[in-house]
Amino acid sequence: SEIRVFAPATVANVACGYDVLGFAIDSPGDEIVVRHCDKPGLHITQITGDGGKLPKNPTQNCAGVAALDLLKHLGMTDRGIEMEIHKKMPFGSGLGSSSASSVAGAFAVNKLIGEPLTKKQLLPFAMAGEASADGAWHADNVAPCLFGGIVFIRSNDELDFAQIPAPKNLWAAVVHPDIEVLTKVARGILPKEIPLENATQQIGNLGGLLCGLIQEDYGLISRSIHDVIAEPRRQKLIPDFYKAKRAAISAGALGFSISGAGPSVFALCEGEEIAHKVADAISKVFHAIPIENQAYVSRI
Ligand code: HSE
Repeated sequence: SEIRVFAPATVANVACGYDVLGFAIDSPGDEIVVRHCDKPGLHITQITGDGGKLPKNPTQNCAGVAALDLLKHLGMTDRGIEMEIHKKMPFGSGLGSSSASSVAGAFAVNKLIGEPLTKKQLLPFAMAGEASADGAWHADNVAPCLFGGIVFIRSNDELDFAQIPAPKNLWAAVVHPDIEVLTKVARGILPKEIPLENATQQIGNLGGLLCGLIQEDYGLISRSIHDVIAEPRRQKLIPDFYKAKRAAISAGALGFSISGAGPSVFALCEGEEIAHKVADAISKVFHAIPIENQAYVSRI
């Protein structure tokens, strides 16, 4: 028997929730196929969509690391398992590419061996895969990828999180300008200390965004989507960022910021029609640079 799973792209931070808030989108997403085989151990037999960049050695591949970590925990490392990885999104895109592979790796193997663990119990193993790829420990891509929807993480260390309901008509427009921003670099340019005033603003906005989502208050959501900590520094890595932001807001977006560490950007919108208009407006700006890009519209 064969198990095929899909793990979606995610938007981390959502402006004011650096490392503590993220949501999943419908597409793109990575696919992983696993099946039993006679040769003991985990074997990555095929990787597509990675331009030949990803290692097939499972200890060096985030999907492999997540799966191996899980098998080790269960004392099943000598099970014979074959894994195929089909990447549907680029690395360094800000779409949670390594998280999607890590989640898919752990989820697929768990399913293949008869689902000994619950989704919630899989989180630390998917996190181990993600951490092997970007060297940091934050669940704002992995958790929404695994659970879907919007997830708020109270503590990354304790993996204490809560799923947040999304208003019925909340949509995201996500655009990926075809430049690469390494998460390590984008984290490295952030300040170690921030002024108290900025901390207060950010906390106010994060609280406002969570209340707005829960109360379906689009006005409150809109007033809260601001990032005074990471965005002012990271926008420098994304040519025409503010031009794209103005275009998104003019086209009717509730708010606009960087997706994860970038270079992808996202806008939250009320309604599908506006989300498409906003995605087009953002795309136009990035085409003008000119760089190739891809746009995704998804209900949250
Ligand atoms: N919260 C992370 C960051 C997401 O902004 O660096 C990137 O993976």
